[in-house]
Amino acid sequence: MGPGPSDVSPRVLEALSRPTIGHLDPVFIEFMNDLKGLLQFAFQTDNELTLPVSAPGSAGMEACFVNLISRGDKVIVAQNGVFGGRMKENVERCGASAIMVIDDWGRPVDPQKVEDALKANPDAKAVAFVHAETSTGARSDAGVLCRLAAEHECLSIVDAVTSLGGIDVDVDGWGADAVYSGTQKCLSSVPGISPVTLSQRAQEVIRARQEPVQSWFLDMELVMGYWGDHAQRAYHHTAPVNALYALHETLVALQEEGLENAWARHRRHHRALAAGLEALGLEFVVDEPHRLPQLNCVAFPEQIDEAAVRRQLLADYQLEIGAGLGPLAGKVWRIGLMGYAANQKNVFVCLGALDAVLDQYGGPVEPGRAVAAARDAYSLNG
Ligand SMILES: Cc1ncc(COP(=O)(O)O)c(C=O)c1O
Repeated sequence: MGPGPSDVSPRVLEALSRPTIGHLDPVFIEFMNDLKGLLQFAFQTDNELTLPVSAPGSAGMEACFVNLISRGDKVIVAQNGVFGGRMKENVERCGASAIMVIDDWGRPVDPQKVEDALKANPDAKAVAFVHAETSTGARSDAGVLCRLAAEHECLSIVDAVTSLGGIDVDVDGWGADAVYSGTQKCLSSVPGISPVTLSQRAQEVIRARQEPVQSWFLDMELVMGYWGDHAQRAYHHTAPVNALYALHETLVALQEEGLENAWARHRRHHRALAAGLEALGLEFVVDEPHRLPQLNCVAFPEQIDEAAVRRQLLADYQLEIGAGLGPLAGKVWRIGLMGYAANQKNVFVCLGALDAVLDQYGGPVEPGRAVAAARDAYSLNG
């Protein structure tokens, strides 16, 4: 129950262990088409250029920036946590300049500030932001931010690493141009793959580039030689065949469950977990309307030795929760309820274990209250 990787289901682990076949095997080629369709389903898009980049979420991020941004470009980057900072790094390493729009950690990206930045920088090429900030648990309004970008004739680049599968990621509804995710959060597959989708407009920008993309591996024109048109598929790199089996299986499971049902499941277990955490006296960093159900970031009482609590949870209950990052290091815990791990058993195990361990470390705990609060939340919300 950390901030990812999340638990992988036995069904997906079984898929992972299927025999490895060649990445140009006709069966695998069929499988790739299927996988693209499943990713389009998860992203809610008809984008032809939708594919799993063979590397973790950071590579999806980098793929979007190196393909869309060129030397001398200007990009408006919204930062409200760790990962917006990485977007800035990417922009600058492309030889472009980043116009930073900063919000406090724990707050969503403020659309008004983004609009002001767009007005002040009419030559900006793109707006980049993180939909679900894993460092704080804040959700930003991707629909509004993508619309603002489009109104100012800018591309939108969206980090959906922690959102895909856990909350609504509506690529076509938002009109987003480049969206990347990861397999290890709410998709609950093995880490190491980054689903990416690029709009028609984004593809045109890539085709119109004057300079070659500085990364050979992530150059989408080359990658599409492998992931693109069925008839002409050619070797680009050796696909991580078994990790792709796992991703395929988890997406089939998501399709069986239905996107709305998966989001509702995350919300339901989050409400119970939140009720329990608050009963333990732990305060959410993010205001309720902007909270991510899959990433619960809570502050603990100052006197607590937080690292000792996490060690004890792991040793005695085999339960991992995450520490704070950046300015929130040593101040918060990040408790994940992602994908396959978003279930009632985990909620009760986590609350029961925290109750016992906090009691041991002198936390102001009223034994049993957290589990009771979660139980009440379940009976209220179904
Ligand atoms: C919002 C966000 N973006 C990007 C990344 C980077 O993904 P990865 O660790 O798979 O490279 C993460 C990882 O936690 C993330 O939470």
